[in-house]
Amino acid sequence: MRKPIMAGNWKMYKNPAETTAFFEKFRPLVAQSEHCEIVICPPYTNIAAAVAAAQGTRIGIGAQDLYWAKEGAFTGEVSGPMIKASGCSHVLVGHSERRQYFDETNETVLQRTIAALEAGLSPIVCVGERLAERESGETEAVLALQFRAGIGLLSADQFARIAIAYEPVWAIGTGKTATPEMAADAHRALRGQVRGRYGAEAADAVRILYGGSVKPDNVRILMAQPELDGVLVGGASLDANSFASIVNF
Ligand code: PGA
Repeated sequence: MRKPIMAGNWKMYKNPAETTAFFEKFRPLVAQSEHCEIVICPPYTNIAAAVAAAQGTRIGIGAQDLYWAKEGAFTGEVSGPMIKASGCSHVLVGHSERRQYFDETNETVLQRTIAALEAGLSPIVCVGERLAERESGETEAVLALQFRAGIGLLSADQFARIAIAYEPVWAIGTGKTATPEMAADAHRALRGQVRGRYGAEAADAVRILYGGSVKPDNVRILMAQPELDGVLVGGASLDANSFASIVNF
């Protein structure tokens, strides 16, 4: 059985005081939630506050990105070892907003994933098609390319330590959720890629999360699909009650 990961991506929202206030409300609401792993990814500036507030709980803290060099003259960047030393267990890699606005490519997603693994972090690597690609029937081909040119180049040992997030770009922050069937189809296609490259055991083990307008009122029908091994939640993870009801679907 794959244990679901319920992950929140706060994007560029909240300051440290707001982070502490969130955790005060959120902690008791998920104190019994042992059916899943819980991960919250705040902005870098809130990691210290989040790690302190999550101490003694099972809530993991993640960064939203990392740079692949360990250190150096790379103004503005943050490395895997820095993120790890700050108390994070996870890191998002290749979020569509990084691909869209910050020139992330399948190649740099791979470099970042390897750097995360080397730092001892658990990467959640994001893939997903754009609206025009879905409308022209290219979804599976896009996912296959993102897989083959990205995480499909990891070694089997490396691959065993990542989770994948399927996030159709047209469903992110738009209120348009993929139907549970659409999500399950995409997850099956991705799992098929994994099977072809790494074998049946790896395909059975890898956790594939769905992301894109997940809310308290649609999480249950999404999670009813056996193909979905959790969710990656943006907007609805910013409110403690809302994210707790997603975690406790
Ligand atoms: P959303 O974002 O839940 O606000 O659509 C999801 C994501 O970008 O991870």
